[in-house]
Amino acid sequence: MIRHFPVDVCQPDAKDALSRQITWHEVPSKFNLQSDKATLKQALAKQLKEQDAVLVAHYYTDPDIQDLALETGGCVGDSLEMARFGQEHEASTVLVAGVGFMAESAKILSPEKRVLAVHDEATCSLDLGCAPEDFKQFCAAHPDREVVVYANTSAAVKAQADWVVTSSIALDIVRHLHAQGKKLLWAPDRHLGSYIQKQTGADMLLWQGSCLVHDEFKADGLKALMSEHPDAQVLVHPESPASVVALADVVGSTTQLLRAAVNHPASTFIVATDQGILHAMRQQAPEKTFLAAPTAGESATCKSCAYCPWMALNSLEALHQRLSQPGPGIQVAAELREGARRSLQRMMDFAAAQQNDLRVSADLAEHSQQFQHIGAA
Ligand code: 13P
Ligand code: SF4
Repeated sequence: MIRHFPVDVCQPDAKDALSRQITWHEVPSKFNLQSDKATLKQALAKQLKEQDAVLVAHYYTDPDIQDLALETGGCVGDSLEMARFGQEHEASTVLVAGVGFMAESAKILSPEKRVLAVHDEATCSLDLGCAPEDFKQFCAAHPDREVVVYANTSAAVKAQADWVVTSSIALDIVRHLHAQGKKLLWAPDRHLGSYIQKQTGADMLLWQGSCLVHDEFKADGLKALMSEHPDAQVLVHPESPASVVALADVVGSTTQLLRAAVNHPASTFIVATDQGILHAMRQQAPEKTFLAAPTAGESATCKSCAYCPWMALNSLEALHQRLSQPGPGIQVAAELREGARRSLQRMMDFAAAQQNDLRVSADLAEHSQQFQHIGAA
């Protein structure tokens, strides 16, 4: 059978739609009483301590989960920061509030730790749309290419890759590979892939997956909102369509967008990513106004309304259930472990080297400033 890679193997929509509908049915209702919530949060903090567990949360999770993570010495971060924090933290149990690939990555990077996911059903449309068997054929059809996969994939896909990247480091890693003259095969997010391709000029063959949340942002609606707020800065996650990215003032990972929101002098921001991030933005820049970028439809016609249905499964109740019956946690099949670890660790090492370079150049700048100061005096 002839297969026209990468388009005809990458149609996650039907599977997505069903999985998404089922997921929304399971998202718990909100607390009625603040006192109930406070009591539960206290109990959860105690359970975390008793089990020597640290809570590592993504910015898209429920604000209560994000607050609890910070209050109990855990972290809230983008995918790369979550992986780094889980790997470096001394706790024997890492509890991941996010989606499946995040918990799986934590386990691959820290096989000696017990890694728990808050909710077993929390997955990702990018992961669902990149089946390992289909991906194998994609790679086999292009053996001359270095294989770069986004972190939003299964261990079975990561095990076939040379590199794993997250949105915060993808540009730097692809630039590095392009400078070495490498041709790349990229999966699974087509929007992030084409953004990186444009920015770096690298030769990249793209898998055609997408994120159901970011795919919904629309340039027309965004333009209309921008004309109502002409001074607003537009912050866009690169999983969004090219027409939306083209309107952005800042394109970046969730942490990079948050940093821009805090540091930029503008007072109003339009944000094109899952609305879960608005909690951290409003906490860290309370004097500023944050507006959600418009999605394709409204109410019943909207697929996601800029909320990831799988991230929404990370509730305080689900966390309580998990801590009450933790079980052995995430397991990664023995035959995948080493391959997936190699491609993930490569990214972690690249990120660590980059941080080191930044530290060295900051030190040099400080020293040269001291030197100038001495000279001027
Ligand atoms: P970040 O790494 O930017 O947090 O993105 C993860 C993700 O799933 C975005 O949809
Ligand atoms: Fe996956 Fe999109 Fe949800 Fe992120 S927001 S976890 S990319 S479906």
